[in-house]
Amino acid sequence: MHVSDLVARLSAAVRSDKPMMAAHDVLLELAKERDAVANALSYLSGRGGNALQAFYRSPELSILKVSFPSGRRTPPHNHGAWAAILLLSGAERNTFYRRDADGRLKRTGEALLEPGSVLPMAASAAHVAECIGDEPAVGLHVYGGNVLGVERSMWDPDTLEEHPLDWTLYEEFAQRASRAASAPLAG
Ligand SMILES: [Fe+2]
Repeated sequence: MHVSDLVARLSAAVRSDKPMMAAHDVLLELAKERDAVANALSYLSGRGGNALQAFYRSPELSILKVSFPSGRRTPPHNHGAWAAILLLSGAERNTFYRRDADGRLKRTGEALLEPGSVLPMAASAAHVAECIGDEPAVGLHVYGGNVLGVERSMWDPDTLEEHPLDWTLYEEFAQRASRAASAPLAG
């Protein structure tokens, strides 16, 4: 498998009538070949910023390799589009949130991902992703838009105040989130 095969399969999926479902189906197929997917993406570190993660972006599709090291936890954030993750290796806990009618973030559940797990998320969803265990959590992340160009929100992990996504502030939030005992509202 070559990285261009991943791009071809996913970009064909998002040009269908039901892009999120079609992309989800492609990820379920790729889950059966996840070693080949991991090999095709071995030229990317998947960490150190979006430029080292994103390998395809169009108005309707972004594809990234994302590697969360042990102990790394994101702040709550959304994607400005539907999203789906195929976990390639390691283990990852996802905690889900929604904005309540009063604008506050409410925890709605969580999911534990293991290698081969596929997690779809609606455009309205916000989440926290964290690596659990000693091995990095490495995933193929697919978004139904230009994820680096759309309007997105992130939330302060301590105060849960909403902010427009800003990568410098995001990193400060992520470091604070990683030091916490658990994802916000999960205790
Ligand atoms: Fe995310």
